[in-house]
Amino acid sequence: MGFPEIAAKAHDDPAAFWLDAAAALEWSRIPRVAHDPQSDTWFPDGEINTCHNAVDRHVMAGHGNDTALIYESPITGQARTFTFAELQERVARTAGMIAAQGVSRGDRVIIYMPMVPEAAFAMLACARLGAVHSVVFGGFAAPELAKRIDDCQPKLVLSASCGFEPGRTIAYKPLLDAALDIARHKPAATIILQREPLQADLQEGRDLDWSAAYETSGPVPCVPVASGDPLYILYTSGTTGTPKGVVRDNGGHATVLTWSMANIYGVGPGDTYWAASDIGWVVGHSYIVYGPLLAGCTSVLFEGKPVGTPDAGTFWRIIDRHRVKVLFTAPTAIRAIRRSDPDGSFIDDASLASLEVLFLAGERADPDTLLWIAGKLGKPVIDHWWQTELGWPAIATCFGLGQTEIRAGSAGHAVPGYRFRVKDDAGSDVPAGTVGNLLIEQPLPPGAFRSLWNNPERYAAGFTDFPGYYTTGDAGMIDDDGFIHIMGRTDDIINVAGHRLSTGQMEEVVANHPEVVECAVVGAADDLKGEMAVGFVVTRPGCGDLEAVHRELVAAIRGDIGAIASPRSIYFVEGLPKTRSGKILRNLLRDIVNGAEIIVPQTIEDASVIDAVREAVRPVPRDVSPGG
Ligand code: COA
Ligand code: AMP
Repeated sequence: MGFPEIAAKAHDDPAAFWLDAAAALEWSRIPRVAHDPQSDTWFPDGEINTCHNAVDRHVMAGHGNDTALIYESPITGQARTFTFAELQERVARTAGMIAAQGVSRGDRVIIYMPMVPEAAFAMLACARLGAVHSVVFGGFAAPELAKRIDDCQPKLVLSASCGFEPGRTIAYKPLLDAALDIARHKPAATIILQREPLQADLQEGRDLDWSAAYETSGPVPCVPVASGDPLYILYTSGTTGTPKGVVRDNGGHATVLTWSMANIYGVGPGDTYWAASDIGWVVGHSYIVYGPLLAGCTSVLFEGKPVGTPDAGTFWRIIDRHRVKVLFTAPTAIRAIRRSDPDGSFIDDASLASLEVLFLAGERADPDTLLWIAGKLGKPVIDHWWQTELGWPAIATCFGLGQTEIRAGSAGHAVPGYRFRVKDDAGSDVPAGTVGNLLIEQPLPPGAFRSLWNNPERYAAGFTDFPGYYTTGDAGMIDDDGFIHIMGRTDDIINVAGHRLSTGQMEEVVANHPEVVECAVVGAADDLKGEMAVGFVVTRPGCGDLEAVHRELVAAIRGDIGAIASPRSIYFVEGLPKTRSGKILRNLLRDIVNGAEIIVPQTIEDASVIDAVREAVRPVPRDVSPGG
């Protein structure tokens, strides 16, 4: 069956469709019921273990010698492969190590680690125990880590002594120590993976050495859990400084990821699939760790950058070396490669015969970049759209179902199981081709979030503006042929190099500076990173040393949120454009900084501010270098 038939099946009888998809997995109690509308749970009577399905099941089926994981670390010069049998041994013993710290079903474990195989083992080990992992991206600073520790109250934190960024070593342990100092919740133990060349100091009675703990741990079996039990919590940016803890279930998640590997990406057992992301993001959860392994594929875990580790040929050499069939990355990575290798000579040097398709997501794929890479590779390049909340693609060209038509500027069609609507602010459907609020009809398909950790009100808020629908926070348009076009966020979230960040959160940090009276942070278009934060700051009268304030603001953002949130520019202005009711006109600021045509609203309090802002932006922007 092709895309139209499958889409129709999913639309007409979602219960039968998803029960059928769930049958691809091994359940300790096979679900007979697809969805319970009362609790909004998929497979409410099912019992499953995700780790069993991602690891043990393949070994038991005789695929123990197949390669499960390829670790490629051009930044350290290391590479390793693990068969499914080796993965099973590592994961089962890592689970033993975690269980020895008193962690059991339902307990939370924070994983704050660089891109090393042990991080993936740890995620799977938590799943094995029925414990709930919360991976925190290594680029987040101590206060961000502390917020997550306080919210999910882990029994244990797993971390490493260091990670690597081009040209520098990131010491993780001091960041973890600082976070544990800030956090009110104090986990009983941490386990630290010591990496050369930077060994961490361990605090007696709290910090354990990973190798020593692992060596003395035996394997433990998988613990069956209810389908709706949480597998993980992944924090993502909302519109405030408090991150949202997206909760993922076990049964629905395992079902849709398995389905998506075959039907969206077109891969199956034995194929090598590579998502060049980080385990700290949803892409890493779904398509470095769980999706490929559930489908019996070989997954690539990459510790490096698309450029500079050591050059713009890294991606293509890895594809060549491991016969990668599908690559998934963010458009920023392609823009970085293009900037460094505009003729694509590294692409020409590699043999890319194994590569069938490139998938892009995480941010807008500008047609120029998409066409450039499609031309250089001579393979289909597919933009697709989803969010942390959803956990798997919602808009795509389903390559595995034989869909090939791609429309420039569109992320494709609704993936079977998703029903999209576009409405205006008043809640009326807009005609085809008109931009409005992009909504998804309830119930959301399996895999999508059913709650936010500790925050039912905030979860409910995602469904209140348009009753019966989930508000994605994106503006979109559906054309006459069902292609969905994403136009950007309707809220204060920006996407910097595929990383989702909240400008509201940055404003909170900036506003904390004693010299700042008022501020606004907006996302400015950026040739490399898609968007970058730009700040507008009004200081106290008589504040003399703007250079110092500038330096301190950048340092505060990097120190409180992380270097990934570094603003591109900060402009000091006399006042901010506001409505008469005092609302800052952030869209106007964004249009000014982007050099776009501006429409001055009737409700503006003082239009003369606009000229002053334009004047501040006109000179060469103040480049923000690290720490200065
Ligand atoms: N740990 C610590 N610091 C990190 C980090 C991590 N895991 N990841 C990034 N940072 C730091 C970087 O070192 C950099 O610090 P600096 O300002 O002191 O130089 C800062 O955060 C910004 O990093 P980044 O956004 O990665 O920019 P870059 O200029 O270092 O690299 C690209 C540019 C395009 C190569 C990089 O952004 C990239 O690889 N993009 C692809 C993104 C991607 O795959 N996203 C996944 C979403 S699907
Ligand atoms: P995240 O939760 O980090 O995956 O970020 C989700 C947000 O990234 C979406 O709400 C979009 O705003 C944006 N996004 C993701 N994929 C795309 C895409 N293909 N095109 C445009 N925006 C995208």
